[in-house]
Amino acid sequence: MGKDVIIACDFADIQTTYGFLDRFTGEKPFVKIGMELFYSAGPEIVRGIKARGHRIFLDLKLHDIPNTVKKSMAVLSGLDVDICNLHAAGGIDMMKAAVEGLTRPDGTRPLLIAVTQLTSIDQTRMESELLIEKPLQEVVMRYAANAASAGLDGVVCSPLEARLVHERCGKDFLTVTPGIRFAEGAQGDQQRVTTPAKAKLLGSDYIVVGRPITASEDPVAAYERCVREFRDA
Ligand code: C5P
Repeated sequence: MGKDVIIACDFADIQTTYGFLDRFTGEKPFVKIGMELFYSAGPEIVRGIKARGHRIFLDLKLHDIPNTVKKSMAVLSGLDVDICNLHAAGGIDMMKAAVEGLTRPDGTRPLLIAVTQLTSIDQTRMESELLIEKPLQEVVMRYAANAASAGLDGVVCSPLEARLVHERCGKDFLTVTPGIRFAEGAQGDQQRVTTPAKAKLLGSDYIVVGRPITASEDPVAAYERCVREFRDA
């Protein structure tokens, strides 16, 4: 498991998503379905993309009381996705409940990973808006350790934190990292970014890439470039 590129399909509807995926006539990329698409197209889009042969990271970032998260995860476990996630900020009990909810009667379940701090949050915002005054890296490491102790499989974090997460939580604890930009690309709203090649050097297991691929004039070429720089480097 790992060392792959996941395309963030942040589209508004089914037609746009299928139109985008139709361009990939060779290898079927691993795709991430986020809130925008899931809220507009529902579970049907998950089943449809799975039926087309893609692996799916369902990025709904659950964050609620343990009972609600457990029951919601039980629903999601029926969708046959490969990775689900939640916010580590929901606490250890919530994460344990999520694992229970996600586990099917036969003992199998999708991988479950936790968001530590969003890559759009930097130290200044964390202190001034969230009133968390610890160093960002310490917060990320503590949230990652909480996720590991709750039985999760990994975290979503910045590539810049991947190595430390592996050191603290083990080499098999997955690091799934957004905030990826080509060397010459625009940063947009992401604060902590790096290139696919650097992410690999830093120890990322999966990179999540959205706009550098989806907003490109040639998304297939942009995806293939990511794969070359990350998976095959
Ligand atoms: O377009 P871009 O490459 O910035 O997309 C990154 C994707 O990763 C988006 O779908 C965003 O929601 C997601 N993400 C993130 N930071 C996190 C968790 C998920 O950017 N910590």
